Amino acid sequence: MKTIVHVVGARPNYMKIAPLMEALRPSPACRQVLVNTGQHYDDMMAGTFVRDLALPTPDHDLGVGSASHAVQTARVMIEFEKVCAAEQPDLVVVVGDVNSTLAASLVAAKLLIPVAHVEAGLRSRDRTMPEEINRMVTDQLSDLLLTPSADANENLRAEGVPPAKIHLVGNIMIDSLLRHLPLARLDRVSDRIPVEAGGYAVLTLHRPSNVDNVDVFGRILKAISIIAEGLPVVFPVHPRTRRRICELGLDMARGQLILTEPLGYVDFLSLTSHARLVLTDSGGLQEESTALGIPCLTLRENTERPITVSHGTNQVVGSDTDAILAGFRRAMSSGGSAARPDLWDGRTAERIANVLCRFLSI
Ligand code: UD1
Repeated sequence: MKTIVHVVGARPNYMKIAPLMEALRPSPACRQVLVNTGQHYDDMMAGTFVRDLALPTPDHDLGVGSASHAVQTARVMIEFEKVCAAEQPDLVVVVGDVNSTLAASLVAAKLLIPVAHVEAGLRSRDRTMPEEINRMVTDQLSDLLLTPSADANENLRAEGVPPAKIHLVGNIMIDSLLRHLPLARLDRVSDRIPVEAGGYAVLTLHRPSNVDNVDVFGRILKAISIIAEGLPVVFPVHPRTRRRICELGLDMARGQLILTEPLGYVDFLSLTSHARLVLTDSGGLQEESTALGIPCLTLRENTERPITVSHGTNQVVGSDTDAILAGFRRAMSSGGSAARPDLWDGRTAERIANVLCRFLSI
C-alpha cells in the first residue's frame, strides 16, 4: 500500500485537489491523506470549498492562519514535518503557487519524499510577485512536474529541468469547472444578487500590488466607476481587499457597483458563467473565463498564463485607467470565444492519476 499526501491550504487549491483525489479513489493500492494547512480559514475562503467540491474531511488541519510570508511558510513547515513523520508518505502532492505549496514541498524534499507539483511551469517573470518565487522553488524541488499547457513545458526546459520529469497533463481546475457547471448554470446566485444573465461584469481584486497601494487601487476604481455607469459590476470582496478599503477610507458607492462577501465555489461559478465580462487580478479566473468563453480583462502588468491570451479570451491591461477602459471597449465589441486550449477537457485528473500510479508502480 502506497501513501499519497495531498496538501491544500488556500482558496485556489481546493478545486485542483478534489478531482485528483476522486480519480485516485478506485486505486486499491493507494491510501490518500488530505492535509489542510489553514492558510485560509474563514468559512467562505476554505470550508465552503471543501463542501462544494465534496472533498473528504481533512485528515490533518495545521491551523497556521495569516502572518507574514516567513512566519506563515515556517508554520506550515513545522507542522507539515510532523505530518510526514506520522504518515510516512511515498509521495506528496502540492498544487499551484501559494505559500503552503512552497512550504510543503521544501519539507518533503528535505525528508527525501518525492514531490508532485500540479500546475508546474507557469512563469510571470515578475519576482515582485510572491507566487513567482513559490513557483520557481517548488518546481526546482519537484520530482514530477505536471503542466497545464505547452508554454509551461518550455519554461521548465529553459530552466534545465530534465524532460523525463515533465508531464503535460492539462488544466485540472477545468475538471472541477466542467463537473460543477451544470449545477452552477441553474442560476443560484441571481436570487440574491439583482443582475440579469449576460448583463453584468464580475470583478475580483486581491493582489497586494493592486490593493495595498492607494494610487493603483484608485486608478482601477476610477475605471470601474466609469464601467459601472453603464454595466452593473458585481464585486465579491476578498478579506485582504475589504481591510484595505477600510484602512484607505475608499468610497465604494460608484454607479452600479455591487459589493458582496466572498462567494463559495458553485455560487461564484454561477456568477461568472452568466457574466458578460470578467475583470480580475486572479490567476485562476483568467483560466476559468477562457474555459467559459467569457471575455476577461486582467488587471496586472503580466500573466503567468499566456495561453489565456493566445488561445483564450484574456487581455492583460494593467492598472492604468485608460488602458482598462480601452480593453473594456474591445471586449464589449468582440464578445467571447468558444475555443478552449488543448487538454482543458475535464480529464486532467485521470491523466495525473496515471502518471502518479506509474511513478509509484501501483
Ligand atoms: C493567497 C495567495 C495567493 C492567492 C490568494 C487567493 C500566497 C503568497 N498568496 O493570497 O496566491 O491568489 O491566497 O485568495 O500564498 N484573510 C482572512 N481570512 C482568510 C484568509 C485571509 O481574513 O481566510 C485576510 C487576512 O487579513 C490576511 C489577508 O487576508 O492577512 C491575506 O491573506 P493571505 O493568505 O496572506 O494572502 P492572500 O492575499 O489571500
